[in-house]
Amino acid sequence: MSDPQTVLKYTKQFHFFDEENDAASLNIAIPEVLDPSYGMYVWPCAPVLAQYIWYQREYIRGKRVLEIGAGTALPGIVAAKCGADVVLSDSALLPKCLENTKQSCLANGLMDIPVLGITWGDFNPDLLELGPVDIILGSDCFYDTKDFEPILVTISFLIEKNPQAMFWTTYQVRSADRSVEYLLEKWELGCLRINLDTFGANKPCLAGSQLPGNHTIEMLVIERRKSSQE
Ligand SMILES: C[S@@+](CC[C@H](N)C(=O)[O-])C[C@H]1O[C@@H](n2cnc3c(N)ncnc32)[C@H](O)[C@@H]1O
Repeated sequence: MSDPQTVLKYTKQFHFFDEENDAASLNIAIPEVLDPSYGMYVWPCAPVLAQYIWYQREYIRGKRVLEIGAGTALPGIVAAKCGADVVLSDSALLPKCLENTKQSCLANGLMDIPVLGITWGDFNPDLLELGPVDIILGSDCFYDTKDFEPILVTISFLIEKNPQAMFWTTYQVRSADRSVEYLLEKWELGCLRINLDTFGANKPCLAGSQLPGNHTIEMLVIERRKSSQE
């Protein structure tokens, strides 16, 4: 492991505000580390999901939230600042990334947020012993097709245990032939696409940052598939 003294770090700032209420605003500082691991950087999907949470801040207050593939955890940190009871997670196989997730919490004065090792598709004790969850967050988790099914296996398990739970997720459209539709069907999940215009996220600069830039980003709400009788 690198000597923490020699690791090159820098901090990105995000500022969320409400055009109709000057008193409502939120500043978040996210430390990034120069490292090849994906989880050390804020990805363009993260400010979009964080903005959705900011728009839903009344709803999310007091909710039990788990972020998967959190990396630098901007969405989970915004949720915690908005009053949710948050648990963060990333791959159990990436301890440096989990350490960086903790650093993101500390940089925002959040000392008590649990950071768990939850690897998609893997039923380890951290996943099996997790308490009730209302909302699962995932920003830019659907980037490698080999992970699509393991992610949905984990989501399906959590929704089976928490039938009212929702998975709020943003993904970057990198190729038109990638789709999770058939896997959603297989794992009995339903999906609603949220228009970015409805939460002020359809723009290249968001929360005072140049992320998401010109990337095409989609926001989905995934839930238990309802039967025709419901
Ligand atoms: C593209 S990065 C997105 C990071 C962060 N959510 C964001 O949007 O800024 C993908 C994240 O998924 C995590 N990840 C990769 N494979 C994983 C796995 N098998 N199980 C859990 N997390 C994984 C990575 O460590 C990384 O944090």
